[in-house]
Amino acid sequence: MILVTGGLGYIGSHTVVELLQTGNDVLVVDNLTNSSLEVLDGIERASGKRPLFECLSLNDKMDVKYLFNNYEEIEGVIHFAAFKAVGESISEPLKYYDNNIGSLVNVLQYVDRLNLEIPFIFSSSCTVYGEPDSLPITEESPTKKASSPYGNTKQIGEEILFDAVRSNSNLSVIVLRYFNPIGAHKSMEIGELPLGTPQNLVPFMTQTAMGMHKRLTVFGDDYPTRDGTCVRDYVHVVDLAKAHIVALQRLVGKKNEQNYEVFNLGSGTGKTVLEIISDFKKVSKVNLKYKMGPRRQGDVIEAYADVTKANSVLGWKAQFNVKQAIRSAWKWERKIRNKN
Ligand code: WQD
Repeated sequence: MILVTGGLGYIGSHTVVELLQTGNDVLVVDNLTNSSLEVLDGIERASGKRPLFECLSLNDKMDVKYLFNNYEEIEGVIHFAAFKAVGESISEPLKYYDNNIGSLVNVLQYVDRLNLEIPFIFSSSCTVYGEPDSLPITEESPTKKASSPYGNTKQIGEEILFDAVRSNSNLSVIVLRYFNPIGAHKSMEIGELPLGTPQNLVPFMTQTAMGMHKRLTVFGDDYPTRDGTCVRDYVHVVDLAKAHIVALQRLVGKKNEQNYEVFNLGSGTGKTVLEIISDFKKVSKVNLKYKMGPRRQGDVIEAYADVTKANSVLGWKAQFNVKQAIRSAWKWERKIRNKN
């Protein structure tokens, strides 16, 4: 059975669907602070199977003790459980360190204590690179001081895992550094469910197109890029989910070359904010209202992945292009607002 922590979140739920559809038994643990039980129903409708579920807080040692004492057949862990709002992490850093670091350490301590020889997949982020010195970004690109406590918890999480692997030869880890996940599952039973006003570009854009916001503000048009707006690497969330299956199979099949490996997960293509808006207009036929505004603090100018390692070593490549991902995001937005 595969333990998926944070399995009712955006990337977590899409990964659980892929795990179930590839014949895995799955136990989802989620504290429901950033998700809801309806996502569990959506996973069942999307995959035809219902995972086991426990509502637990992994930064609570008693909850983790209950988990590992009641589920002895855990054969692998995919760890998504973390708060992920960059802005909130700046205003509430201790909440982020307690939850994101505490949860990871508690789970690793039990894996260690029970001497479990199991694969561990860690959900990390391109945010660990900060403003890259060169592009595209490879796994050897230097990590920079994180621009937010959220990003710092990802960097610290990677360092904790590196040290844990060094001290425990039973532990094998793959760190997956996501670029910008967007889109929704083709079943339209699961997708992105931002709590409150979304900070991310694509959900804010689709909500604006639904009339939920007056207009989209483009955060800065004076960057040194081809059209003055920031460049990002947008990747379909289902492609990202499938990468977790490939990474898990790599460790289960002991195909890994080291016990600690890192892979960038992106499309390998950078798109500016204005290009994303243009793609959305073509896909949705909606004349999206937007205006130019000031830069957003903490944004990097340009970030997109070199996916050579994921393609050649992991054997993973994104199958959807950005327009397809945007189309699925728009279809999902209309579905959850009951407008088909
Ligand atoms: C993309 C671009 C904005 C909203 C964040 C986290 C990262 C990861 C992915 C978790 C930027 C611009 C956005 C808007 C805009 N999250 N934008 N108007 O910042 O690249 O990455 O989400 O792991 O850790 O930092 O994604 O979607 O917020 O922004 O112009 O209303 O869109 O300035 O250039 P980002 P994003």
